[in-house]
Amino acid sequence: MPKVFTTEELRLFQRKKYNNRSWGLVPTMGSLHQGHLKLIQKAHAENAVTFISIFVNPTQFDSKNDLENYPSTIDADIEKIHAIDPNICVFIPSVETIYPDGAKAKKYALQGLDKPMEGIYRPGHFDGVATVVERLFTLVQPDVAYFGQKDFQQLQIVSLLAKPLGIKIRSVPTIREANGLAMSSRNSRLSDEGRENAKHIYETLQIVKSNFSSHTIDALKKMAIQKLSETPQMELQYFEIVAEHNLNFVQSKGKGVSYRAFVAVVVEGTRLIDNISLN
Ligand code: PAF
Repeated sequence: MPKVFTTEELRLFQRKKYNNRSWGLVPTMGSLHQGHLKLIQKAHAENAVTFISIFVNPTQFDSKNDLENYPSTIDADIEKIHAIDPNICVFIPSVETIYPDGAKAKKYALQGLDKPMEGIYRPGHFDGVATVVERLFTLVQPDVAYFGQKDFQQLQIVSLLAKPLGIKIRSVPTIREANGLAMSSRNSRLSDEGRENAKHIYETLQIVKSNFSSHTIDALKKMAIQKLSETPQMELQYFEIVAEHNLNFVQSKGKGVSYRAFVAVVVEGTRLIDNISLN
């Protein structure tokens, strides 16, 4: 009689019936851009079976307007996935499949990772993300799941969630448009002028990175806030420098700590976020 004691052994035993082939999952909300395609290509290269989920998760939207206006390009998405490999499995669940008892987010204890930045501006957002990601993990049973670094706070949260389940998390660096703007499904809502102004987000992050070793945290924050506030059409929500491992706000630099800068702005009514590693 087979006996298994650890989640890893359990996973290996389950996989035996599928010839030990590893399964990769790329969760998305559709409207696929180059950033998603990089994740899909990585998952496809690293796993024998790849699943892409396309599900616009209602419980992670804090505004009804944002949910209703979220772009949907399902036929084009399927074509893009098909062009990578027609054998990739596209999972397009209904709201009832994900939420059989009604579309409601569970409450999670996320070691405070959900509290700063997006947590302040989008209360409840990460409970919605954690609920859908956990449900997708349960349904798809991946060995590895893939998330982009543009949503770095989300990446840290899903890493925490995946650990006890024995699921590995892989990420890919943010893919950018030619002017440096981080690729996002929401960019399609920007006018040419909005897109031009939005390039100052990444420019600011790069300036902060290049001044990181010579300036205090306070001076760096002032520098960034001034540049972003001077940009036409740009409404700044936050610019923060935090310790990468726990996302805690910092006042000064310490030895052996990795720091990251995070920004959220609104341009032409569209909320844009970005981040950069500083050291
Ligand atoms: O990053 C996203 O697109 C979403 O938050 C995710 C991870 C697919 C959950 O709905």
